[in-house]
Amino acid sequence: MGKKDIIILSIETTCDDTAIAICKYSNDSFSVLSNIISSQIKDHNPFGGVVPELASREHIKNIIPVLDKAISEANIKLNDLDYIALTNKGGGLVGSIIVGIETAKTLSYLLNIPIISVNHIRGHVLVSMIKNIDNNKYEVIEPEFPMMTLTVSGGHTQIILIKNFIEWEVVGQTLDDAAGECYDKVSKILNLGYPGGPIISKMATTGDKTKIKFPRPMIGSGDFNFSFSGLKTAVLYETEKIKKENLKISVDDVCASAQDAINDILTRKSLKAIEKYSPKIFILAGGVSANRDLRDRLKNEIEKNTESKFMMPEIPNCMDNALMINIAAYFNLKNNIGIYNYKDIEMSIERKV
Ligand code: KG4
Ligand code: ZN
Repeated sequence: MGKKDIIILSIETTCDDTAIAICKYSNDSFSVLSNIISSQIKDHNPFGGVVPELASREHIKNIIPVLDKAISEANIKLNDLDYIALTNKGGGLVGSIIVGIETAKTLSYLLNIPIISVNHIRGHVLVSMIKNIDNNKYEVIEPEFPMMTLTVSGGHTQIILIKNFIEWEVVGQTLDDAAGECYDKVSKILNLGYPGGPIISKMATTGDKTKIKFPRPMIGSGDFNFSFSGLKTAVLYETEKIKKENLKISVDDVCASAQDAINDILTRKSLKAIEKYSPKIFILAGGVSANRDLRDRLKNEIEKNTESKFMMPEIPNCMDNALMINIAAYFNLKNNIGIYNYKDIEMSIERKV
């Protein structure tokens, strides 16, 4: 990284958010010049989940206005950019990712600057490696390897051992639904709307989690894998039973009990993985990391029972955003990985870290 200040524009379009952020790095501190997200939640809400075809069309409509806004809020000219960062790995919807890739390639071609390729999952994880020092100013925290992460989103539930910047080893993952998907499906069964996680966690605050004891699938499996598909079926049966037998159990109680089951499984498996691998730092990441109960539970348990330092993203950085892609791009740049000419950019939709 030759010159002193480096400006990176990052693009994130893997699912239902069109997001662009611009950050200016000066050694290991940086300023967020702009961080724009155009959410499609209201478009997908009536369908109870993301409709891929609709997501692609919305990205096409939103990407240039978001770019315009990011550039004008950052108060820079396109020519000031040093790198374009994009998400082209780690999973997502093909038609959504293509919009981000084509925009990044066009900018890279026109401005004659390199592209930094970022894995979506790594973005979710590395957005925690920052410390706010003043307003929009942050310091980048040096990683201490090995690190470990529990990455929980609408598409992922993985425990990953991060040996160094190159080697990220998945030591456990879901065999069916992701944890966020489970939150979304429970919400759909209860007719509460999309995305389910924020709604369930809000309703859970006024519910009694001891009212229903939902199963904890695979809790004693001896490995670090998960299974969440049985839980949504259990919620379906339980709600039918409540109606049929006119039981005194509220929707809030169902939410609190379901949240307790999901978070209990996530916490207990994480603790077992920490016990085996003794990471220096453990990071909670992905959209579900916005869940208050999970944040508190993991933090308390890890600090009480292990030597690992616990980290998690600030709430606004939990769900998909382009700031996380910008920070991961900076780490890539520092470690000289994932830097491409636009002609060599490919796409992978595999959920590989
Ligand atoms: O990382 P993300 O924004 O997109 C994907 O990469 O999937 O994660 C979205 C997921 C959704 O399933 C959503 O319901 C869940 O994160 N989520 C939550 C909360 N906020 C978002 N789950 C539980 N509690 C929350 N507060
Ligand atoms: Zn995500």
